[in-house]
Amino acid sequence: MATRDLTVVLQVAERAAEAAGELIRQWSGRPEVVDTKSGPHDLVTEVDRRCESVIRETIRDAFPDDFILGEETVAQYGGAEVVLGAEHEDLWVVDPIDGTTNFVAGIPFCSVSIAYAHRGILEVGMVYHPYLKEQFSAVRSGGAFLNGRPIRVSSASTLSESVLGTGFPSGEHARAVNTKGMVDLAPRCRNIRTLGSAALHLAYVACGRLTGFWETHLNPWDMAAGALLVQEAGGQVTDIEGRPYTLEVRHVVGTNGLIHGELLGRLKGAMAAEI
Ligand code: IPD
Ligand code: CA
Ligand code: CA
Repeated sequence: MATRDLTVVLQVAERAAEAAGELIRQWSGRPEVVDTKSGPHDLVTEVDRRCESVIRETIRDAFPDDFILGEETVAQYGGAEVVLGAEHEDLWVVDPIDGTTNFVAGIPFCSVSIAYAHRGILEVGMVYHPYLKEQFSAVRSGGAFLNGRPIRVSSASTLSESVLGTGFPSGEHARAVNTKGMVDLAPRCRNIRTLGSAALHLAYVACGRLTGFWETHLNPWDMAAGALLVQEAGGQVTDIEGRPYTLEVRHVVGTNGLIHGELLGRLKGAMAAEI
């Protein structure tokens, strides 16, 4: 149980997300790819780095002793596993731009994802769409909200009524595995969307726009905030084998709860859970 005032934590997350969102809007359509990370599909721009800097500064000003696990700086701390293994008491998990491929292509669909965990338990999650100015937020046991209004997962109870989200994770093997699920599910659900931001996919599950989402080979910063959103909106988040979500999970399934078992079963049958 966190001892600090989570309303203040949420306000800091909001300020940080808005500052990064301002940069994203300002640089929209003219980012320069400065590097690739894990492979040719994994882009990073100067704007990703600047967004992370401004988020870090905002968090540091308020909570100087907290540890920040951010996508663009994690390498200098030995990687996500090392950071999570260190069991920091107060940990922020940050994806400064989730959807860099869209950002580079000039497609106005990406998000800023910021989560706060106390002793490994997610307490606050915020996913911000800087173009639509949609702010999805959740505080543990306090419900989930879109721009201050309560949100709830969809009431669809079968895959055939479901609109699912997924992605094309970076890495050839990861893409091949995830595609197996798409091939199996496409004829069985209402439709599939790959919108290009895992964090927004989870936020969309939380507000009922999507019924469910799965993707393999993600990183903690892609999912942390969105996972809490789904849980607080009445949904379910597990790994691809049905175990409860933790920050260590990399292959995630998040749904309205009603289709969770059916979706897990299909992914298993399609060998899309054979990592
Ligand atoms: C990516 C996005 C994308 C997902 C990839 C992620 P990034 O994050 O979430 O939707 O399919 O697996 O890596 O690189 O834009 O932060
Ligand atoms: Ca990401
Ligand atoms: Ca990113």
